[in-house]
Amino acid sequence: MGKKIFSGVQPTGNLHLGNYLGAIKNFVELNNDNKNECIFCVVDLHAITSKQDPKVLRDNIRETVATFLASGIDPQKSIIFNQSTVPAHSEAAWILSCIARMGWINRMTQFKEKAGKDKEKASVGLYSYPILMAADILLYDASHVPVGEDQKQHLELCRDIAQKFNNDFDVKDFLKVPEPLIQKEFSRIMSLKDGTKKMSKSEISDLSRINLTDDKDIIISKIKKAKTDPLSLPSDVKELNERPEAKNLLGIYSSLTNSTLEKTVKDFKGKNFSEFKENLTQVLVEKIDPMSKEIKKLVNDKGFLDKILIEGHKKANDIASIKVKKMHEIVGF
Ligand code: AMP
Ligand code: TRP
Repeated sequence: MGKKIFSGVQPTGNLHLGNYLGAIKNFVELNNDNKNECIFCVVDLHAITSKQDPKVLRDNIRETVATFLASGIDPQKSIIFNQSTVPAHSEAAWILSCIARMGWINRMTQFKEKAGKDKEKASVGLYSYPILMAADILLYDASHVPVGEDQKQHLELCRDIAQKFNNDFDVKDFLKVPEPLIQKEFSRIMSLKDGTKKMSKSEISDLSRINLTDDKDIIISKIKKAKTDPLSLPSDVKELNERPEAKNLLGIYSSLTNSTLEKTVKDFKGKNFSEFKENLTQVLVEKIDPMSKEIKKLVNDKGFLDKILIEGHKKANDIASIKVKKMHEIVGF
């Protein structure tokens, strides 16, 4: 039996190698399996939980669609749409926010990280963000949700919300309890400047990440500058536990070549970083440079991208409006 897939990416710019290897690469594989029904959402409602320039946001929405297409997602097979065009997301999020408990939301580590030291100044939206994410998933009866490791806790919350809704209203199986799909290895790509920090869109230094719009020369220069350690490459995977930068770079190489970390370590044991970096740069350029060119081409064709979003909107809205109507009936509206 095929899977019902739902996932979302925030249109906050700077989509990077972590987004690709942690999530989008998996979207493409799921899209290619004809048995699956896939929905990929540009989560613009989530994006405004932190301040956005409206003009830049509009461009970033289209660039996210362009990235989906350039990575290999086929809009004939998968639904691609942006969240704000389907009102059911906001409606369901409100209903589910009356189901979710304060204690559950208070445990979310991403809020703590993103809000930083001054939690009083964070937006209420940033706090209730995971409830909107639960609404996204539950409206489409998704069976599986492909995401990077950092979203695992939000998915567990989504499962708890679905189960509580079904129990509270005695509607067994009305909200489908989804399974996360998280790559076993390389689900967390780290910064090129600090192997203990996640590669992130919001990191100030552009040298910390490979953006999916980086061209060949930029990739070469970023890998040259990527942090390493003074030793040569190990012969045993276990040694990598104390060498976060080496582990990350070898992990990136393994993920891009669809290999295992064990095999990569075996292939490069005893070599120095400069030789390994040449190989890494080559596989990165082969993968990212054509994608980058395609994204840059597609973003100029706004009409084409908007057409995909409109088509996607129609299909998504048909599904979600029926589900939220049923939710209304269940809660007594
Ligand atoms: P976001 O850009 O926060 O909307 O994330 C989009 C997807 O990329 C989510 O599934 C994240 O879990 C995933 N992701 C973001 N950063 C990383 C990273 N450094 N490593 C692996 N996956 C990531
Ligand atoms: N919170 C996710 C992230 O930051 C994005 C997201 C929003 C999402 N809604 C979703 C992911 C639904 C999967 C399913 O990466």
